Amino acid sequence: MYKIVLPKLNTKWLGKETIYYKEIDSTQKEIWRRIENKNIDNGTLILADIQTDGIGTHGRKWYTSQEENIAFSFVIYPNIQIQKIENLTVEIAEILLEVFQKIYSIQLAIKNPNDIIINNKKVGGILAETKLRGEQIECLVIGIGINTNQQKFTKEIENIATSIKNEFHIKVDNLEVITEFCNLFEQNMIKRMEE
Ligand code: BTN
Repeated sequence: MYKIVLPKLNTKWLGKETIYYKEIDSTQKEIWRRIENKNIDNGTLILADIQTDGIGTHGRKWYTSQEENIAFSFVIYPNIQIQKIENLTVEIAEILLEVFQKIYSIQLAIKNPNDIIINNKKVGGILAETKLRGEQIECLVIGIGINTNQQKFTKEIENIATSIKNEFHIKVDNLEVITEFCNLFEQNMIKRMEE
């Protein structure tokens, strides 16, 4: 595990502290563990090459067994009411689409409320979890997984999952995508916090 600097990051707090794991159970679980230990600053981002116990929405599993995909989570202490994060996962998906359009000129699609798809196959997902005090959000933990450069899928999921590489035949620079996402998403979050 070590800290990395995201290239071309121009945020105030998101991703300023970025921690990389070659292998971990789940970046999402690691963020929650650090929150519990009061050992994580606002905007800290954790990313991993391999997740051995990644989680998806509704208690599902998220497979990140290859060293080629995007898997990261980050924490925000927004101090806003729960209503202010309505539509959050869809807007995150829209920002991710914008990032891929901007860097690679490719068009992905959204399946409400938190899936990114290509030709009806899932290519990415967003998991947003909160810790509340009454109506107030104490912390918000967002996890994003995108199959970017993976080419082989197990029989179990090959009919429902795909990757950017398999659909568009391009190699994605995962760190560039994460950085550009942070640059755009922080603006979105600041607006919600100011409104
Ligand atoms: C879904 O579509 O069900 C959401 C998938 C979210 C997966 C990401 S990968 C990084 C982070 N760590 C996890 O264990 N899950 C999220």
